[in-house]
Amino acid sequence: MADQKGKTILTGVKPTGAPHIGNYIGAIRPALRLAASHEKSYLFIADYHALNAVYDPKALKEDSYQVAACWLALGLDPAKTVLYRQSDIPEIPELVTILSAVTPKGLMDRSHAYKAAKDRNAEENRDPDADVNMGLYTYPLLMAADILIANTDIVPVGKDQVQHIEFARDMAGYFNGAFKKNVLKLPEYQLEAGGALLPGIDGRKMSKSYGNHIPVFIDSAARRKLVMKTVTDSKLPAEPKNPDENVIFQIYTHVGTPEEVQAMRDAFEKGGMGYGDAKQKLFEALERNFEQPTAKYNELMADRKKLDDILEEGAARARKVTRETLSNVREAIGLARLRN
Ligand code: ADP
Ligand code: TRP
Repeated sequence: MADQKGKTILTGVKPTGAPHIGNYIGAIRPALRLAASHEKSYLFIADYHALNAVYDPKALKEDSYQVAACWLALGLDPAKTVLYRQSDIPEIPELVTILSAVTPKGLMDRSHAYKAAKDRNAEENRDPDADVNMGLYTYPLLMAADILIANTDIVPVGKDQVQHIEFARDMAGYFNGAFKKNVLKLPEYQLEAGGALLPGIDGRKMSKSYGNHIPVFIDSAARRKLVMKTVTDSKLPAEPKNPDENVIFQIYTHVGTPEEVQAMRDAFEKGGMGYGDAKQKLFEALERNFEQPTAKYNELMADRKKLDDILEEGAARARKVTRETLSNVREAIGLARLRN
């Protein structure tokens, strides 16, 4: 990896409810590691993005708190990583308005998310724009504003988000070209190393939509119950088993120490490791990883004032940068800089 010292890294998280351990291993843990290894890191709750699909004030509020509590409980250091709500940064929607003046409509038409919605409608013989609101249509504009307003160098993304970063680069280029000034920094994406897909307790990919997930924040009894329900075949303890075909072992590889994982692999291959034993070891490793974060999460969710304070402080810190960027943008187009 190229030297990333001094670079700004930014991630947005849609508030979509409590995470499972697949989300943690596949998305949250890598993002926390990246944030810790960069001088400047921003993590925000993309509540305006969620609004396109959720018209439920209680859920939006609750889910936003959950995201904040979740990342803090899992190790985000708010003194280092700036944690804020998108909706606390008024510079973002202002930049959306400005970017929309230099962005061709055709760019939005090419957005994967919009095209997917149109394809679904076509399959169902509905009007192509049925259930497509302007928030969905202009999703890439808002996302570009999130990124460009913070002077971001790097956005870690999964494959599905690459187009959004390319669009943000395009929009920064359109703006700089239109006003003949290098005001907006062109961000780069960094593809998250894919591949680490956790199976759920039924052996399919762990996913909320399959209901086969182990939530990160649950009490020990519930955690034990889910682990004990994990599918196995009917081999007897004494029989040798292939650990790579075994859901318990696959989950264990992500939460056990390297020595523990090797020991379980050896024991499965040699024979003598029963599934009951393996489940107990998996449960213990999960406890070690998630018992304390669960306590911290519950503590934070019971203290909204503390969460509000952290988010407000984050917004104040973020706005030092976002106000500067917006002032430069306003100046470039012939408007006054923001006052104080
Ligand atoms: P779900 O399928 O439970 O709805 P999402 O699609 O909301 O999960 O995924 C959120 C993030 O978590 C994504 O970055 C995704 O790559 C990661 N993720 C989801 N499921 C898994 C899994 N089983 N293993 C590893 N990472 C996962
Ligand atoms: N679109 C992202 C997702 O669905 C969330 C997001 C919003 C985001 N704004 C962002 C991610 C800016 C990175 C940078 O996951």
